[in-house]
Amino acid sequence: MKKEIVLLPGDGIGREIMESAKEVLNVIASKYDHEFIFHQHAIGGDAFDQFGTPLPKDTIEASQQADAILLGAVGGPKWDNVPANNRPEKGLLGIRKELGLFANLRPIQGFKALLHASPLKQEIIEGSDILIIRELTGGLYFGQPSERRDNGNSVVDTLAYTREEMERIVEKAFESARIRKKHLTSVDKANVLESSRLWREVVEEKSKDYPDVTVEHLLVDAAAMKLITNPSQFDVMVTENLFGDILSDEASVLTGSLGMLPSASIRSDGVGLYEPVHGSAPDIAGKGIANPLGMILSAALMLRHSFGMEEEASKIEKAVNECLEQGYHTADLNIQNGNQVGTKEMTKAVLENLTNDSISSTYV
Ligand code: NAD
Ligand code: IPM
Ligand code: MN
Repeated sequence: MKKEIVLLPGDGIGREIMESAKEVLNVIASKYDHEFIFHQHAIGGDAFDQFGTPLPKDTIEASQQADAILLGAVGGPKWDNVPANNRPEKGLLGIRKELGLFANLRPIQGFKALLHASPLKQEIIEGSDILIIRELTGGLYFGQPSERRDNGNSVVDTLAYTREEMERIVEKAFESARIRKKHLTSVDKANVLESSRLWREVVEEKSKDYPDVTVEHLLVDAAAMKLITNPSQFDVMVTENLFGDILSDEASVLTGSLGMLPSASIRSDGVGLYEPVHGSAPDIAGKGIANPLGMILSAALMLRHSFGMEEEASKIEKAVNECLEQGYHTADLNIQNGNQVGTKEMTKAVLENLTNDSISSTYV
């Protein structure tokens, strides 16, 4: 298959880990006889420095025409004082909104070799396999333009959703639960927020179309607690934008590191943007020690969700698993007796395992 892929490396470690994803995709292309054509464009602080905006028109147009988009990360202290509308993060929010990527899938699965790398006890994380589905184009992130009043001493951010925006993400969650363990946890703050009460209503209504899926409602504070005390009780979790942002970083500890988590931001027709859950990690940028696995696993999600290349996607996941089994890990993973390597060496280990046809096992 021939596919046009837009690459948006962005800032900080985004630039380092994008190289890793590209190398992995090149090996997949030659192994499975595909043609992946890469078009690199600027986003975030990098785009602001070059073009005075974190989301150039050119980047939007190329992304609209692409078969899929891969994004590294945006942001960093260098741009802390630029006007709010030109912050690197606005580039990321803008591309999600422009492309209508309302469903953010954040799978959290432990690798067996990393069970002991988590700060949580092994017996607590064992068996956990969660899919967090985060609404991505509404809520507090996209309300009325934020406003400072009273000489800057009071402030308004608005949390806005329409029923239709809730329905499409909730439907996606039910569909996902249906092909997994048929358990859906809807997370809200219905004891306080009106938006959450509408959300709960929508979930209840939709559940009538999915009698095979068990639904549970949890308040977000309790959900945050249960995620780390009993993670294996969850299958699919669905929630609004900000709650999903926070809960997914929290859930990353199950895998040993935030650097391990991939994500897919998609819309109904399958077009998608794929990016690791973590940010630009300014504290380690430029040191060559970033974990490239969240980015590499995001490329695997792209092959699966946008291109229907299940075999190729699972080949990458197996190669990652194999590297970890062989003891390779980057510095973010707290492993005592392993083989600690940098970004390039970790990528090389994945590439070597990709060309090895005898590997079999994957996640726990
Ligand atoms: P972060 O995710 O960048 O980093 C949090 C911590 O995790 C840091 O200690 C970092 O070193 C570590 N870490 C993250 N990814 C890693 C990896 N692949 N390998 C090794 N260690 C890794 O979050 P932050 O520090 O709060 O934010 C930094 C900047 O990134 C901010 O400007 C923020 O807005 C932005 N951000 C961007 C995205 C994105 O582009 N999708 C996501 C989150 C944060
Ligand atoms: C994420 C990030 C972004 C978000 C930021 C950088 C705007 O934290 O992708 O999780 O909050 O959505
Ligand atoms: Mn986040």
